[in-house]
Amino acid sequence: MMKTYFNKLKNSKKLNSEKNGMKFFYIIYFLIISVTLTYVGCSEVQNNLVTAPEIGTHPDGWGSDTGSVNFHGKYIYDNNAWTLTQCKTCHGGDYKGGVTGSSCLTCHTSSGGPQNCRLCHGGTSGHANPPKALNHSNDVQSLGVGVHVYHLDSTKYSADVECNECHLSLTGGFNSPNHLGENPDGIAEINFGTLALTSMGGITPDPTWDRNTATCSNTYCHGNFPEGNNATPIWTDPSSTQCGSCHGDPDTGNPTPRTNGVFMKPHFAFFTSQTCYVCHGTVINPEGMIYDKELHVNGEINY
Ligand code: HEC
Ligand code: HEC
Ligand code: HEC
Ligand code: HEC
Ligand code: HEC
Ligand code: HEC
Repeated sequence: MMKTYFNKLKNSKKLNSEKNGMKFFYIIYFLIISVTLTYVGCSEVQNNLVTAPEIGTHPDGWGSDTGSVNFHGKYIYDNNAWTLTQCKTCHGGDYKGGVTGSSCLTCHTSSGGPQNCRLCHGGTSGHANPPKALNHSNDVQSLGVGVHVYHLDSTKYSADVECNECHLSLTGGFNSPNHLGENPDGIAEINFGTLALTSMGGITPDPTWDRNTATCSNTYCHGNFPEGNNATPIWTDPSSTQCGSCHGDPDTGNPTPRTNGVFMKPHFAFFTSQTCYVCHGTVINPEGMIYDKELHVNGEINY
């Protein structure tokens, strides 16, 4: 396009004044069209910034008054502006201030600045999993919090479950396309990894997460295997999973596997958790304590 435009310009010099006038008209016409197109294109970007502050005029309380309705953290949460792209247009891709001369890093001193994992979610140290959730809740009954810590920090029955057993892996960290995407909705995606999908004895699990009921179903982990209970644990209720929930009797807590109440060799009705060690001695001790959590819920029967 530019080439033809310049050709027109060049050619126009050779033409007589009348023709030149026409050319001039066309060039102006062309320019108006281009400017209009550019403007329409840019205004989409502008629209995204409409609620963003104008240069030098962030509202009162924006900077450091965390209780203010104008606080920037609240703005980011309310508008799902999590990618921080808006902020970066003025404050620079490195958050050091850009054209504003006002750096994010003076306050956000942790590594990564405002991209530090635990700024938006996660505990004060360690993993980035909630608590704290995006809405800053620490309550287990809050969907963003749920039983993350039971899977990750204080697991009773198994080794830590990795983030990528429930979420896509975030190679590249904050800017990974699996993290926020271009238009984040503030809701984490659940994508089950290899453990939940482990097939055993002809059963291939088809795990699902139902956000309305806050339940997982058809996961290998919670007993979708022969003689397992195929339980539907509730993410926001820690008591929904006990010894006996995934295999055995959820009411008595006896873990001896059975299918619809029917015991099958080599498991017998008289077994208790003190019996298991006889055959599963690498996993569980004579007191019925799981002493090698790495081998329990690891996708293999260890006996
Ligand atoms: C249109 C340009 C522009 C955009 C977009 C922008 N800022 Fe700013 N910001 C500025 C300017 C200019 C200053 C310094 C002058 C001032 O304090 O008003 C500033 C200052 C600040 C300050 C310091 C205020 C204080 O009281 O110390 C914070 C915090 C801040 N911006 C956060 C953000 C965040 C978070 C975003 C993204 C949601 C953002 N800004 C987007 C231009 C911008
Ligand atoms: C004057 C100090 C200050 C500056 C400058 C500042 N912030 Fe913050 N920011 C805070 C405080 C305080 C919090 C609240 C932290 C908390 O709740 O633990 C916060 C929270 C946030 C959050 C978390 C939002 C949430 O709801 O979880 C983000 C994201 C953020 N800031 C981005 C930025 C960006 C981007 C810049 C630079 C453009 C910036 N901040 C500059 C003080 C600052
Ligand atoms: C056992 C499965 C599981 C594991 C393991 C897991 N998560 Fe989650 N995560 C969930 C579920 C379920 C939700 C809620 C999804 C929803 O809101 O629909 C969630 C939500 C989140 C959210 C959004 C919180 C909010 O406020 O909405 C973040 C952030 C998160 N997880 C981070 C992590 C990180 C980091 C790890 C690893 C350290 C991890 N998760 C491990 C199941 C898991
Ligand atoms: C500026 C805020 C912010 C920061 C900083 C941040 N996250 Fe997130 N994170 C989110 C939001 C928002 C979601 C919900 C995803 C969505 O909206 O699509 C999320 C979701 C997640 C999830 C759940 C899976 C998913 O992608 O939906 C994981 C895991 C996660 N973050 C890990 C991290 C890690 C690791 C870091 C540090 C490298 C980090 N986050 C830094 C805001 C943040
Ligand atoms: C007499 C030896 C023996 C004892 C005692 C025993 N198991 Fe097993 N268990 C096995 C064998 C062998 C398998 C593998 C069965 C197969 O591959 O089909 C197995 C498999 C399992 C499985 C995988 C699901 C299945 O049945 O395929 C679970 C769960 C299990 N055992 C739990 C227990 C628990 C809990 C106890 C104690 C209450 C226990 N077992 C006691 C021998 C035993
Ligand atoms: C979250 C679900 C869950 C809970 C709760 C659970 N198990 Fe298991 N258990 C499994 C799965 C899945 C297997 C299948 C083998 C594997 O992947 O380790 C298994 C297998 C076993 C085995 C066979 C050895 C092996 O390979 O792991 C024993 C023994 C066992 N469980 C004992 C117990 C006892 C005792 C309790 C209660 C203290 C318990 N389990 C609670 C999921 C669970």
